[in-house]
Amino acid sequence: MARIAYVNGRYVPLTQASVNIEDRGYQFGDGIYEVFYAYRGKLIDEALHFARLTRSRGEIGLTAPMGDAALRIVIHELMRRNRVATGLVYLQLTRGVARRDHAFPTPAPRPVLTLIVRPKPEPPEALAGWGAAAITLADERWGRCDIKSINLLPNVLAREAAKQAGALEAILFDAEGRVTEGASSSVWIVGADNVLRTRALDHHVLPGCTRAALLEDVAAEGMAFREEGFSLEALRAAREIFITSATSFVKPITALDGVPVGNGAPGLIASRLSARYLARLRGA
Ligand code: PDD
Repeated sequence: MARIAYVNGRYVPLTQASVNIEDRGYQFGDGIYEVFYAYRGKLIDEALHFARLTRSRGEIGLTAPMGDAALRIVIHELMRRNRVATGLVYLQLTRGVARRDHAFPTPAPRPVLTLIVRPKPEPPEALAGWGAAAITLADERWGRCDIKSINLLPNVLAREAAKQAGALEAILFDAEGRVTEGASSSVWIVGADNVLRTRALDHHVLPGCTRAALLEDVAAEGMAFREEGFSLEALRAAREIFITSATSFVKPITALDGVPVGNGAPGLIASRLSARYLARLRGA
């Protein structure tokens, strides 16, 4: 079946979906995006993703092309037309088309909204055998990683380095040797003290929606938890490492820079949180 994309008000075959060469997203990376996971027709953590979209949009001074209710209808219509009930929804919003000039064009062009969906399998029932490798890399991104900007060159380079090393993700650390996040995920560790940690939010990390939702599960499980940063050394000494995102769910990292994490198998905390995550999907 031909895949269908949404391009500024039109549903078009993906092969014909295109934007103008002077789209500022194409020329400057002047835009933002969101990635949702849809599970059996429902958008997971929908309110969190819509709120982050609104925030990212506001931070770069873009107007909304439509209200959230209308956007929700577009997303569901696109899923219907593609017959995708469980999969990814990629949404991109750019400042629109204008003669190339760095500063914002005046009058402001109409923002360009594009959407694609594609099927993605459901998360696994159990994490056994689902661990992945990661590498560590210096974080070379800009100072506003809290904005979900389409400028992803450092993330692309980091993920390529991970791939070349036979790993799934690159875990990034700043100039002080503090872990920020993954190239496209939030990072969590369970330390030797059995305390679960993930870095507090600031301009150097994206406020992950999966992270936010998981914080409620952490509280419900009564886990020992601290929302605080940790060093590269703490990462290396961790009993468990896992990453979270709308596309990786709760993903155990079982090898770091070629060294097994803990006993080299998915850990107990990740497994409990993954089970919670699944339950949330099913109840969502
Ligand atoms: N990435 N940090 C970064 C840098 C990310 O790119 C992502 C998500 C996350 C996790 O956010 P969330 O839990 O809301 O998915 C953290 C998406 C999936 C992507 O770029 O494809």
